[in-house]
Amino acid sequence: MSNVVLGVTGSIAAYRAADLARELMRGGCTVRVCLTPSAEKFVTRVLFESLTGQPCLVWAFDEPEAGRMAHIDWARQADLLVIAPATANILNKLAAGVADDMLSTIALAYTGPMLVAPAMNPAMLANDTTQESLRRLVARGVEIVQPAEGEVACGEHGQGKLASVSEIASAALALIGWTRSLRGRRVLITSGPTREPIDSVRFLSNRSSGKMGAALAKAALWMGAEVTVVTGPTSVPPPLGASVVKVETAQEMLAAASEEAPAADLILAVAAVADYRVAEPSRGKIRRTAEDLLLRLVPNPDVVAELGRIAKPGAVLVGFAAEPTDDLAVAREKLERKGLHFIAANDVSRPGIGFESDENELVLIGRQGPPERSGTLSKIACARWLLERVARALPG
Ligand code: C5P
Repeated sequence: MSNVVLGVTGSIAAYRAADLARELMRGGCTVRVCLTPSAEKFVTRVLFESLTGQPCLVWAFDEPEAGRMAHIDWARQADLLVIAPATANILNKLAAGVADDMLSTIALAYTGPMLVAPAMNPAMLANDTTQESLRRLVARGVEIVQPAEGEVACGEHGQGKLASVSEIASAALALIGWTRSLRGRRVLITSGPTREPIDSVRFLSNRSSGKMGAALAKAALWMGAEVTVVTGPTSVPPPLGASVVKVETAQEMLAAASEEAPAADLILAVAAVADYRVAEPSRGKIRRTAEDLLLRLVPNPDVVAELGRIAKPGAVLVGFAAEPTDDLAVAREKLERKGLHFIAANDVSRPGIGFESDENELVLIGRQGPPERSGTLSKIACARWLLERVARALPG
């Protein structure tokens, strides 16, 4: 039984949330409804409490259970947060992290997958602020059920009508189905760059931001996995809920990941591990002289290949190949050489995808079958795309 929190905001379409609650219940979900105070002008708490058999919240300080904090309890217990209909106000508040009523407070405390179905006047939807908020929400992994075109309540014609109840319900149930596919699995992710010291203040590193690793960790958590991230220094923190081991060098990454690898069902090697380290880093700070400075580099261990050797039978190993070309031969060669089950290649020479950006485009190559292309997606959508595919290779 999945727990859905259904947020209903103050759009004229609020009455349709009653049918949506029923549809979700028919799909096997326990539905708890949270109205915004303006939604309560259109529909009542009693309607939803009678329909769902569950308490319905409106005000930030509503506490059905004395001594508990409902906004935290509801956020923790939910497998999915659906907001339908979602007004421009709630979308803009979600994007900015405003928490000034019960629904927006639950949303801020909630870390799982979210679906929003906007409904509003076409000009409010087309407004730059609303569009910017929608883009920000999509980049965070929020799924949007786009409003339909037609005549809206104010008599105007345009895009803004709430999508059909069956469309929203099936998107919600698909999201729940998706979020179960890694339940009970342990996922190990290596992420970010490594830093190889030159002396006590300098290091060799690379442009990996850790965004793709963080996105994979978040998506794997949403899919129910237990997630460990072994990460080099990044500006993007791994998501709450993942256990995190911070490392600097490739050797430290290998040591930390080796502790986790034998228990992992799925190993995702996203880290951009430095291939070489300085053979003898200087203890102090190297001073400038008029002479050339030669650094002798020695090869680092291949972390993912080593993890493959100690992984349990049936574990699935996924590598990443950030290549400056779309030539998949290089990626295929790595798949073989490193003993991987899959390799996800991305062309880092293309502007707007790969290192440091919020979007990515992957080509997933397995041992069998033709390569699959994700198309350009937000990193979180890319993560979901990839996990859905590699999860199928896990033993039942
Ligand atoms: O050989 P290359 O570095 O291009 O291979 C990339 C893949 O191998 C990535 O999955 C990366 O995380 C992994 N790798 C590793 N240890 C290294 C080098 C790469 O785990 N020393």
